Amino acid sequence: MNIVVIGSGYVGTTAAAIFATSGHKVTAVDIDEKKVASLNEGKAPFFEEGLDNLITDAVKNDDLVATASYEAVASADVVFSCVGTPDNPDGSSNLTYVFDVAKKAAEEMKPGAIFVQKSTVPVGTGREVLKLFPETISYVSNPEFLRESTAIYDTLFFDRVVAGGDDTDACSTILELHGTVETHAKDIAVISDISVDIDALAKHSGEYVTTRLESAELIKVTSNAFLALKISFANSIAQLADTTHADIDEVMGVVGSDARIGKAFFKAGRGYGGGCFPKDVSGLISSAKSFGVNMPIMTAASDVNASMPSYIIERIKKVHKLEGVPVAVLGLAFKAGTSDARKSPAVKLANLLVKEGAHVSAYDPQASEEAAPDLDASATLCESIASAVKAARIVVVATDWPEFKDLSWVRAINTKPLVVDAVNCLVPSDVQALGAEYLGVGRGV
Ligand code: UDX
Repeated sequence: MNIVVIGSGYVGTTAAAIFATSGHKVTAVDIDEKKVASLNEGKAPFFEEGLDNLITDAVKNDDLVATASYEAVASADVVFSCVGTPDNPDGSSNLTYVFDVAKKAAEEMKPGAIFVQKSTVPVGTGREVLKLFPETISYVSNPEFLRESTAIYDTLFFDRVVAGGDDTDACSTILELHGTVETHAKDIAVISDISVDIDALAKHSGEYVTTRLESAELIKVTSNAFLALKISFANSIAQLADTTHADIDEVMGVVGSDARIGKAFFKAGRGYGGGCFPKDVSGLISSAKSFGVNMPIMTAASDVNASMPSYIIERIKKVHKLEGVPVAVLGLAFKAGTSDARKSPAVKLANLLVKEGAHVSAYDPQASEEAAPDLDASATLCESIASAVKAARIVVVATDWPEFKDLSWVRAINTKPLVVDAVNCLVPSDVQALGAEYLGVGRGV
């Protein structure tokens, strides 16, 4: 198929690379010339494991080309819209890019082509966007469920692909297109060079689901809202665990072993961040409100999440002063495996520490550059774990990067610090065995 992917962010770049490796001709369109140049040089405009390998291969084979021009839209069979839907200051979704792109695509697309919305949009948006298109163009909502840092793995081991719209034939075409990705799964695994169990891959199959347009839109935000709810639920119970001497990992581990509940997304810590959960939760609250529906359950989840960094600061202050104290913050990305620091609770923690008068030195293996604009100017960005922790009396592990779990950095410090595990990724007894004090979230002192 002849495919155009508009928007070269996380979703668009991954989709473009995956389709280009699945036997299709793909043009990636973005107004940002830097992203265009980067893609044409075989590199993603951000860090995502295995993605550069796919892009390099596809560009070399002429299966993928990037451009700032909309020219290729005219001959496309399918046009994917993968532009950002950032949140407005009031929490609602900013749909400017979604409508702009649809308007431009509507002017160029050929009759019989399909316009696919991959951007996360509030329920009801598609019904408005499709008014921009002539009847000869079909509109399909095809939400993305990939996680940053495991995007290729998640593509291969997908749980479901959803296509929602009035034109069921167009929905089937989009599901078949994703079927070609399943057919090329082994190629994608080999070319990307990510670590994959090829036997498990051969056996894996997910669901292909056709739904109403509005259902597809709501499935995406509901999935993310429920996962955010699980995290905030675990964080609420963690606070009770802290005051009662229970251990949150023991509690949620066993609670999650009930098949009706499930273990995933029960990890307590400094809370969720990133480009999806915070804005999807606030977007859901705001769009429900516009339809006269209140969502107190999501408001509570969002409040609990926002409170976690200051909860951790208060816990530290019970055992150690912060004013004038050198504190290292290990990790600034919103989670491990990505350079993304958008709405990162790790950055929020670092800034709160500065506010408390601590002398903060921070280190992240990938996200320093992206975190820098949001990081308090008084915090020092370091080039290595060693330089960040060198003089620290307190070390806050704020992102669960594998290199922080290896405790060699504790061994290297002479005066053992208080280790604050804000993501519960360390084994408390291992830290204590090295002579350092340990403070986790929901694990007691
Ligand atoms: C999320 C969804 O998982 C994905 O399906 C959707 O397409 C995009 O949004 P992503 O934002 O990449 O993906 O990250 P995810 O791995 O889901 O983590 C979100 C945040 O929750 C991170 O900050 C992570 O540290 C935090 N988290 C996750 C927890 O605090 N506890 C957990 O148990 C799991």
